[in-house]
Amino acid sequence: MTTAHVPAVPTTAPATARAVSTAAERSVWPASTTEPRPGELAVGGVALTEIADRFGTPVYVLDEHEVRDRCRTYRDAFPDADVLYAAKAFLCRAMIHWIDEEGLGLDVCSAGELELAVTAGFPPERIVLHGNAKSPHDLATALRLGVGRIVIDSPSEIARLAAAVGPGGRQRVMVRVVPGVAAGGHEKIRTGTDDQKFGLSIADGYAQHAIARILDQPQLVLTGLHCHLGSQITEVKPYLSAVRRMVGLMSRLHRQHGLVLPELDLGGGHGIAYRPGEPALDLTALARRVRAELTSACASAGLPVPRLIVEPGRAVVGPAGVAVYHVLAVKRTGGRTFVAVDGGMSDNPRPALYGVRYAPRLVGRPGSATLAPATVVGRHCEAGDVVAADVPLPDDVRPGDLLAVPVAGAYHLSMASAYNMVGRPPVTAVRDGRARLLVRRESLDDLRGRDVGL
Ligand code: LLP
Repeated sequence: MTTAHVPAVPTTAPATARAVSTAAERSVWPASTTEPRPGELAVGGVALTEIADRFGTPVYVLDEHEVRDRCRTYRDAFPDADVLYAAKAFLCRAMIHWIDEEGLGLDVCSAGELELAVTAGFPPERIVLHGNAKSPHDLATALRLGVGRIVIDSPSEIARLAAAVGPGGRQRVMVRVVPGVAAGGHEKIRTGTDDQKFGLSIADGYAQHAIARILDQPQLVLTGLHCHLGSQITEVKPYLSAVRRMVGLMSRLHRQHGLVLPELDLGGGHGIAYRPGEPALDLTALARRVRAELTSACASAGLPVPRLIVEPGRAVVGPAGVAVYHVLAVKRTGGRTFVAVDGGMSDNPRPALYGVRYAPRLVGRPGSATLAPATVVGRHCEAGDVVAADVPLPDDVRPGDLLAVPVAGAYHLSMASAYNMVGRPPVTAVRDGRARLLVRRESLDDLRGRDVGL
């Protein structure tokens, strides 16, 4: 989401040097990625050509070890915190098992995500429910399944939730606060300031007012404050500002109500590189500096240090995923080369929505050593259906070739649509030289099955 142009591959490199050989290139592929023969790429020990043959294209490939390693990196960096995986980035039953086995909690934002997690065996007490507009069904499901925390996001939710819990019940809640910190890779994914729909503002007093009302409801047990600044944040600083603002509010609440809150949730938003050379948030630095800032801010305020919660989505699963497409057509027109693949904005709306730039590469054969700029487009009936604009590809790229797009694990399938009735791609998992299907391809029968009237 940064705008700086970094070529995906060196334009003068010989064909065989286009392996994931440099550290920058490696940073956008799962750690298991190898080049078993020139031009071939294997992830988790499985050649991407084999996956394409076996499961068809477009197809997502998810490296199980990469997901698990990323969970462990979080556990190691934040040993005293609760790490909740943000399910909206990507969810399926296998993912739920991996997250559970790696000791993370879960952040969900709908009854659907919640129900899938709990029915797959995830402990409900380790789940937090978010949402700026939770439906009656969301709240009823959360209470029925015994969700650990519900994050209150608007004043009207307080009475609704208290009534739904009933006089004899108890539900732990947090309050989503807008700390007034601007951060995030694109305006559509910035949520730390007052000009967007999420949370209750400190600046206009809505947060303080809502908290006072929650304290009046005996069935709602306030465990802490929550904030989420936005997404694709690559600097530590905004998180430190958020810590200071949140502890400032905790201190005021302490003075006003004698309240000592045991938890502080700083949300997610940890940025990753989509193309070689792009910056990513340094998790170790984040953990160390947030911990230091929190300790010193709480000491100045005379408050005990609350238990920290973080909610990464993208940084857990994004770099573990690869999307593989077949090239269907190559067209040279208006001085440009368009390489059209068999997917596009229905499986990845992110370039159209946020102007995100990806670094696809040819896989399955070495290709010409001469690279030329190409625009990889999708198959949908829209000129804005671009997968990657102006990327260097071998100048002999042709129909039948395979293109792989790294960093496709987060917010691709979870945001995919049935546009043009193409059907959403399957998800395969690779691990130790084996591939297995996690989510099957959406078929015309699936789509037709919903069409029940005439
Ligand atoms: N916690 C809350 C309350 C959130 O709203 C989100 C993301 C996260 C955690 C996880 O954020 P992450 O670590 O994944 O950045 N569709 C956009 C991203 C939208 C993020 C929405 N909320 C994209 O494709 O970039």
